Amino acid sequence: MPSVVVVGAQWGDEGKGKATDQLGDRVDLCVRYSGGNNAGHTLVVNGEKFILHLLPSGILNPDTTTIIGNGVVVDLDVFESELELLGSRGVDVPHPLISANAHIITEYHKVLDKVTERFLGKRRIGTTGRGVGPAYSDKVNRMGIRIQDIFDEKILRQKIEASLEQKNQLLVKVYNRRAIEPDEIVDALLAHAERIRPYVIDSGRYINDALDEGKVVLFEGAQAHHLDVDHGTYPYVTSSNPIAAGACTGAGVGPTRLDRAIGIAKAYTTRVGEGPFPTELFDEDGEKLREIGGEFGATTGRPRRCGWFDALLVEQACKINGFTDVFLTKLDILSGWEKIPVCVAYDVDGVRHQAMPMTQTEFHHATPVYEYLDGWTEDISGCRSFDELPETCQAYVKRLEELIGCRISGIGVGPGREQSIVIHDLV
Ligand code: GDP
Ligand code: IMO
Ligand code: MG
Repeated sequence: MPSVVVVGAQWGDEGKGKATDQLGDRVDLCVRYSGGNNAGHTLVVNGEKFILHLLPSGILNPDTTTIIGNGVVVDLDVFESELELLGSRGVDVPHPLISANAHIITEYHKVLDKVTERFLGKRRIGTTGRGVGPAYSDKVNRMGIRIQDIFDEKILRQKIEASLEQKNQLLVKVYNRRAIEPDEIVDALLAHAERIRPYVIDSGRYINDALDEGKVVLFEGAQAHHLDVDHGTYPYVTSSNPIAAGACTGAGVGPTRLDRAIGIAKAYTTRVGEGPFPTELFDEDGEKLREIGGEFGATTGRPRRCGWFDALLVEQACKINGFTDVFLTKLDILSGWEKIPVCVAYDVDGVRHQAMPMTQTEFHHATPVYEYLDGWTEDISGCRSFDELPETCQAYVKRLEELIGCRISGIGVGPGREQSIVIHDLV
C-alpha cells in the first residue's frame, strides 16, 4: 500500500501526530498538505514529548524524508525555530524539503488575524491567531507571497508593496493600527532565503516520482474534516481543505494515486475555538474528560471543549473522505464510567435526524439523542491486542464501528508510540 492519507475525523486534536509517527520507518516520505502552524501535533517517543506545529510528524524518524507541500502556509520564523528546537533537544533530524509553491505567512497576516478577531467580538471564530486565514485569503485573492518569491528580490518587493498598499488602508483606517513598512517585511523574508534555498523543490514532481518508484508516501493532515472550509461547520472552520481530497491539491497528486484514507477519531469529542458542538458537556463529566484526557490546546494552551462521541459527525467524515479505515484514539481515557453515552441521532426542533443535517441553522438547533453503552473500570493502557480489552470496551468499539460505517483498524490506548492496538495493518 504505497500511499496513505491521514485525516482528522472530528474538530482536530484527534491524535494525528501520534498515528503518523507510529507508522514509523515504513514511511519513506511524509508530506504535510494543508494548514500551517495553527496545528499542534503531539508525539511521545521514549517518554519524551514533542509538539510539532509546522514540521511533518514523520520528522522524528530518521529514515523518513519530510515535505511541506504546496497547500501549506509557512511562517518561516516558525519553520526555522522548530527545527532549531529539535536540534537543541539533541534530535538529529534531516532538513525537510519545502515546496516552491507553498505560500508564506508574513507579519501582516498575523496582525490582520488578531485585529479581525478583535473586531468581530462576539462573532469571532476563535482562530489560533497565527495568520493562517489571512494568508489563505491572499492566496485565493492572487495577492500571496510564495516561497519561490524570496529568491527574486525585485518580484518579492513588488508583491509586498502591492499587498501592503491595500492592507495598510485597512489597518490604519478601519482598525486604527500603524501602517507596516514594505522594507520590514522584505528584509525579514530575504533573511531566510539562503538558508532554505537548498531544500526548496518542485514538490509535485518529487512526490509523484517517489510514488512511481514504489515508495511509501504518507500525507499527514492537519486540522480535521469538520474544520474544512468546504465541508466543515462553516464559518467556524479553518481556511483550507484538510479533507483527504485536499491531499490531491495540497501535494499535487491525482486522486487515483491515493490508496488508503485513514480517519483519526477520538473515542469522545473535543473542539477548540467557537462554533456549534451538539454533544458538548458543561458538567463534571466534561471537566473529567478534560482533566484525564489532558485536553488543553497544543498550540494556544486553551482548554478544549469536551463532549461524548458523536457518531453522526464521524459518519459524515467517513462518507465524504471515503475512509478505508478509522484509527480510534484515547480509548484509555474512557475507563471508569459506568455508562458511556454515544450520540446516535439528533433531535432538530422535534425532528429526528440520523445523519448530519444539511444547514447551519439545523445544526445549531441539534440536540443529541444518546444510546448508553456499558463502561469498564480496568486500566487498558497496557493492552496490545483487541482480545485483551475488557468485554464492554470491545463492545463499545464494535458499536462505534457499526454507527460510523467504517472498520476500526487501530486503537490508541496511551500517548506513547507503542501504546496502540493494531487490528488491521495501516500501511
Ligand atoms: P493532533 O493535533 O491530532 O496530532 O492531536 P494533539 O497532539 O493536538 O492532541 C492529541 C493528544 O492526545 C496529545 O496530547 C497526544 O499525546 C495524546 N494522545 C494521542 N493518542 C492517544 C491515546 O490513544 N491515548 C492517550 N491517553 N493520549 C493520546
Ligand atoms: P490540529 O492539526 C484544533 C481551529 C481554531 C479555530 C478554527 C480557525 O492540531 O488538529 P485558524 O487559526 O485555523 O484560522 O482557526 O480552527 N483550529 C484547530 N482546532 N486543532 C487544530 O489543529 C486546529 N487548527 C485550527 O481553534 O476554531
Ligand atoms: Mg492538535
